Amino acid sequence: MTPILLDWSALALRWLHLIAGIAWIGSSFYFMALDASLKKRAGLPEGVSGETWQVHGGGFYRMWKYGVAPPEMPAELTWFKWEAYTTLLSGLALLVVVYYLGAELYMIDPAKAELGPWTAAAIGLAVLVLGWVAYDMLCKSPLGNDQRTLALIGLVAFPLVCLALDQVLTGRAAFLHVGALIGTIMVANVAMIIIPNQKKVVASLLAHAAPDPALGAQAKQRSVHNNYLTLPVLFIMISNHYPQTFASPFNWLILALVLVIGASIRHYFNIMHAGTKPPWWPWAVAALGFIVAIWIASFPATPPPLVDTAADERPATLAAVEEIVQGRCIMCHGQETHWPGLAHAPKGVVLETPRDLRIHAAAIRDQVYQTHAMPPGNVSMIEDGERRLIARWVDAGAPPE
Ligand code: HEC
Repeated sequence: MTPILLDWSALALRWLHLIAGIAWIGSSFYFMALDASLKKRAGLPEGVSGETWQVHGGGFYRMWKYGVAPPEMPAELTWFKWEAYTTLLSGLALLVVVYYLGAELYMIDPAKAELGPWTAAAIGLAVLVLGWVAYDMLCKSPLGNDQRTLALIGLVAFPLVCLALDQVLTGRAAFLHVGALIGTIMVANVAMIIIPNQKKVVASLLAHAAPDPALGAQAKQRSVHNNYLTLPVLFIMISNHYPQTFASPFNWLILALVLVIGASIRHYFNIMHAGTKPPWWPWAVAALGFIVAIWIASFPATPPPLVDTAADERPATLAAVEEIVQGRCIMCHGQETHWPGLAHAPKGVVLETPRDLRIHAAAIRDQVYQTHAMPPGNVSMIEDGERRLIARWVDAGAPPE
């Protein structure tokens, strides 16, 4: 019962996380583009800094932006914050259900460190909290005055966090926790800086006092960070199903490239929405970034065989592969699973019959040889020679004998 309940909780939470994330990022994209499309026109009321017209769903909308605030506060004011908060809360719950309750599968790699599930979870959570504190202090320090310096620091610091986590956790957990850290920073920017500052501005206006311009400047700084981090964080979140990213020994370099690619593409759209002709270089940077990332991911995790092990001497027949899979994979990838926490073969990948092995041959090679994502944390202690035998069999066209 418990595995089925866990699977359904993970599915429901993922659903919520996705919906909240779409609402949050959708509204933030919308407001960035709206802001950029505002035009100054003659005859606008006092305090209005720009106007734009939009058409949607059969109606015409005339939007005004008050540079600071309207002379009178409207009785009803919509705040955009629950989209962000729900994204974080559902994301944290998902982290607990998938990664912390499934730490043996997804977090712990005994070849790196013999951690208990609680220690692994504590490391993950500590990164989120300490990472936010460090980022916030950095933004408030003199270094924070220059956005370019901050961007450079981020470009080095986030991959370093990944590299550090990768020393003690699985590549998948390391990669995902950097994504979670970036997401946490973005939501905390909304909750701790942007919304409170906006509330202070509203309060001083209601008291007929001039609001402190530093509040607006600080909120703007954080909102620019959120804008440029949106695309990278989405990539990192979906990449946890693609071992080509996280299981590479150079996953930290791939992460750095993802930051560059995502920020460049965002930059292109920021300029385009502002109504200026956008330059072509962000697409060149993104394309080059992808090519380099694919190239880096193509280095197999297995070093070239220095010493042959027993499996290296065996011919790469289907029977030999079956024997390895029976010993190393079947407890999770059988018709019936014998692994606590797994109700069904994960992702429906059953590896029982010769036909199963042949249809999944390419995926097996990818998971076992190219990336070492399987067996997770090498729970079933597959040998390097056995990984190479599987690769030899697949490279020979997965022959049926
Ligand atoms: C301890 C349980 C366990 C063992 C042992 C195990 N796997 Fe897996 N396998 C999983 C889980 C969990 C997933 C799903 C990963 C995910 O959600 O991305 C998976 C996914 C896969 C996939 C599908 C990947 C995809 O993204 O489509 C393949 C192929 C695979 N495993 C092959 C193997 C092979 C081959 C072995 C043996 C050498 C093996 N696994 C051993 C748990 C296991």
